[in-house]
Amino acid sequence: MARLAYVNGRFVRHADAAIHIEDRGYQFADGVYEVVTVLGGGFVDEAGHLARLKHSLGELRISMPFSDAVLKLVMHELARRNGVRDGYLYLQITRGVAPRDFKFPKACKSAIVMTTRRQRFSPVVEEGAGIRVVTVLDIRWARRDIKSIGLLAQVLAKQAAADAGAFEAWMVDPDGFVTEGASSNAWIVTRDGVLVTRQADHSVLHGITGNSIERIAGELGIKVERRPFSVAEAHEAREAFVTSATTFCLPVTEIDGRAVANGYPGELSRTLRQHYFAYGLTRQEQAFAWPK
Ligand code: PDD
Repeated sequence: MARLAYVNGRFVRHADAAIHIEDRGYQFADGVYEVVTVLGGGFVDEAGHLARLKHSLGELRISMPFSDAVLKLVMHELARRNGVRDGYLYLQITRGVAPRDFKFPKACKSAIVMTTRRQRFSPVVEEGAGIRVVTVLDIRWARRDIKSIGLLAQVLAKQAAADAGAFEAWMVDPDGFVTEGASSNAWIVTRDGVLVTRQADHSVLHGITGNSIERIAGELGIKVERRPFSVAEAHEAREAFVTSATTFCLPVTEIDGRAVANGYPGELSRTLRQHYFAYGLTRQEQAFAWPK
């Protein structure tokens, strides 16, 4: 069976899927995206991802191409047709196709594409499987709460990480505080066992995975503080980890060449990963409250 993509109302062969050269996403990065995990044949945190999609679209005044119900139907249908039980769905909506002009076109229909990818996930992190992180200056724009397809700063950050043999880059603001990972949220566990991650304002993307991790931590009686932490504080942390739809909750064992604690994946990060995995398989949709 050929791999399929969804492009503006049609399921087409992935190899033949194409968009117009004057799509504003292509010319101006005038669009937004979501990445949703497929686990055990269902989507994880679907409501949260749809809420964030609407936030991103609303802030840019791009209209939803169709209703929530139709959007969900297409998402499920693409995953089903591609036989994806474990993996991701990528969804992108742009302002649409129009002759190149910076301001919003008068009449323009949003353009939507979706693709899927298979991937196996494990709830267990092996002893040597923590990730390395390098820090880079955060050179992005000021509206990082919008999941924009303009990702050049993250491309450069990820390449800097890869060049240094690391998996992720933690972006750092001019005051020395970590904002987030290039494609994940950044967390530390203090010596007192408190989870710390940046508050969900315009300085970071409000992570849907992190939101669930925060709730799970609360249920386990673990304290969470939403505040900035510095690179120096991260170096002294008991544990560090990242969260995202593609990594779940993944322990960080090295930051800029220095081991985090004893250099092994932390106990708490591993526990949270297992709980998140179990939650992901339950299909319990959690209501999602957008941060004020
Ligand atoms: N990235 N911060 C940034 C900058 C991200 O790009 C992402 C996700 C996250 C975590 O968000 P969530 O938990 O909702 O996945 C935080 C996706 C996975 C990507 O670009 O591939």
